[in-house]
Amino acid sequence: MNIQGSVALITGAGKGIGEAIAKLFAQQGAKVAVIDMVQQDIDRVVADVKAAGGEAIGIQANVTSEAETARFIQGTLEAFGQLNIAVACAGIIRDGTMLSLDKDTGKVSKKLGLDKWQPVIDIDLTGTFLTLRDAAEAMVNGGWEGLLVPISSVNKVGQIGQLNYASAKAAVAMMPKMIVGEFLMRGIRHVRCVGIAPGYTATPMLTGMNQAALHAILEDVHIDRLIEPNEIAELIAHCVSNEALNATTIEITGGLCYPHGIAK
Ligand SMILES: NC(=O)c1ccc[n+]([C@@H]2O[C@H](COP(=O)([O-])OP(=O)(O)OC[C@H]3O[C@@H](n4cnc5c(N)ncnc54)[C@H](O)[C@@H]3O)[C@@H](O)[C@H]2O)c1
Repeated sequence: MNIQGSVALITGAGKGIGEAIAKLFAQQGAKVAVIDMVQQDIDRVVADVKAAGGEAIGIQANVTSEAETARFIQGTLEAFGQLNIAVACAGIIRDGTMLSLDKDTGKVSKKLGLDKWQPVIDIDLTGTFLTLRDAAEAMVNGGWEGLLVPISSVNKVGQIGQLNYASAKAAVAMMPKMIVGEFLMRGIRHVRCVGIAPGYTATPMLTGMNQAALHAILEDVHIDRLIEPNEIAELIAHCVSNEALNATTIEITGGLCYPHGIAK
């Protein structure tokens, strides 16, 4: 499978890792559909791709909605006539511990609310499911060669303060095995699924993280820096062309080893 001449849709492509994927794929000759919630970010990414000589459309949509997912898949097919690569990159964090204790009494003073739990599950887990499900439907019905790419995280092994996010990302990391197993059972041989589990990456999402915690985490990263979004985009580009990569979730962490941290 080649990026050149293929059609790729990327959710969450208005910023960060998704933006880097859209731009790299367009540079390598794919037609890209930039899907995001934020219209002005979509416009900026589409304009950048076109200015660099690439082909792109933008569709504003919320990945948690079945109707909007159907709309952005349909919009991509109408614009470009096929679909080959779907990267489910839209994601959020809403950090907080499950219980907070009152310093004086030692009793529980606050619990992690559904206001922080549900949006993370809706966007990071259900949104990923809907994007992959409907992209797979289009690829199977169209008979096109395809690659489905869910974005997990190294936090699939757990990160204190991210019960919601780590739960969603652990589930997402399982998806390639389940989806490809199902394809095998059904005789669908032309669509693969490879998950990506990035470590700490220099994007706007990290500005929403506790900065002291982030600084401490970086002490556990062997390359002693954040990963660049483009380094993740390059790994996904490799997954497109390397058919042996399938039914697995690949870590790209810069060597996150936790000698100081808690997760093992
Ligand atoms: N940055 C990291 O360190 C890191 C590490 C591991 C995994 N990830 C994962 O990579 C993906 C991208 O992360 P990022 O750092 O680029 O984040 P980001 O916050 O920079 O960008 C995320 C994009 O998703 C969009 N989005 C959010 N909710 C949406 C919705 N409901 N519908 C459509 N679009 C929506 C946002 O508008 C934004 O443009 C996420 O799934 C994230 O969990 C990031």
